[in-house]
Amino acid sequence: MKLLVTGGAGFIGTNFIIYWLSHHPEDTVVNFDKLTYAGNLNNLTSVEKNPQYRFVQGDICDAKAVGAVMDGIDIVVHFAAESHVDRSILEAAPFVMTNVVGTQVLLDAALKAKVRRFHHVSTDEVFGSLELGTPDTFSERTLYNPRSPYSASKAGSDHLVRAYYHTFGLPVTITNCSNNYGPYQFPEKLIPLVITNLVEGKKVPVYGDGLNVRDWLYVEDHCRAIDAVLSDGKVGETYCVGGTTEDINNITIVKKIISLMGKDESSIEFVKDRLGHDRRYAVDWSKIKNDLGWKPQHDFDTWLTRTVEWYRANEPWWRDVKSGAYQTYYTTQYQGTV
Ligand code: NAD
Ligand code: DAU
Repeated sequence: MKLLVTGGAGFIGTNFIIYWLSHHPEDTVVNFDKLTYAGNLNNLTSVEKNPQYRFVQGDICDAKAVGAVMDGIDIVVHFAAESHVDRSILEAAPFVMTNVVGTQVLLDAALKAKVRRFHHVSTDEVFGSLELGTPDTFSERTLYNPRSPYSASKAGSDHLVRAYYHTFGLPVTITNCSNNYGPYQFPEKLIPLVITNLVEGKKVPVYGDGLNVRDWLYVEDHCRAIDAVLSDGKVGETYCVGGTTEDINNITIVKKIISLMGKDESSIEFVKDRLGHDRRYAVDWSKIKNDLGWKPQHDFDTWLTRTVEWYRANEPWWRDVKSGAYQTYYTTQYQGTV
């Protein structure tokens, strides 16, 4: 089978390509990526010489380039997106362009090429925010209530994907996944930001009171979930994917990382809260468990430790990423507070 992976040079796309080529060595993978600030071909040196892998640089908003790369594709796995909530608050336009318009361009091309499956990788953030201290969870039945420009643009893309299924019969599936962590995550996101700042001897910024809760999943488990949906998922269906079953708040995670790294809690700096900061996410993943037999295999404490080890062992990777334009973003975002 021939897969087109969009956004394969980003965090989850990279992990997915490495996972797929090792679990499905007979398949070919075309990685179509614009290489924005978040895309990094250094992530993929382990597969770049594999004859089953090919990289094509391009923008999912460019209909001509997308039409060309779609030729002969059986399965599209669509990761490409602007993915960072804080950046969407600084500037929403690239989010609407890539996440909404780019997805529509891809859908048109996939329809024309008569692909066998269009799998859309989405987020639990489309469902909005839950109250702290409640047992409430997001599921496939939860109404959409996105609250940031990022999540609103992802919600728009989900609606378009479903519209192409209902209107044109495009064979789609969607996963709405919770927060991923693991190797190759861009150090603008909480976990790699905390680890790398601590190595650099810098403070770590915690928004607001630090009590916001996310539902954490090791990235390989997300890749396995997409694999399960591609193999056995029902066309037209959505599957919620999540990890941690108990609530764990940001300050607890930051303290765990500080302890793993032998640092001091004086490194914590409480900074101005994120605008519209969603309070709590929790995903009910019983549908994908009951229908497809998927469940997370990586527990948080063990794999957080391994993630810390990965960043320690791959300092040149993140030091390179944190240079240049990253510094401009960091200064704008944190206003010299950390
Ligand atoms: P990322 O920001 O690390 O990577 C995004 C990739 O998309 C980069 O390689 C970038 O170059 C590429 N890209 C951006 N705009 C493009 C365009 N116009 N054309 C082609 N390529 C483009 O993101 P990630 O964290 O790996 O997330 C991947 C997907 O998974 C996104 O759709 C995101 O919404 C979704 N998701 C992420 C998480 C998470 O915790 N990171 C959780 C659930 C869902
Ligand atoms: O839930 C899935 C989503 O998870 C994905 O769709 C997004 O692409 C991904 O970026 C992630 O979004 P979050 O906003 O939850 O992740 P982030 O790592 O940016 O923040 C996690 C929590 O940590 C959140 O409550 C905000 C907080 N935070 C984040 C940063 C960057 C801080 O307290 N300080 C920080 O400096």
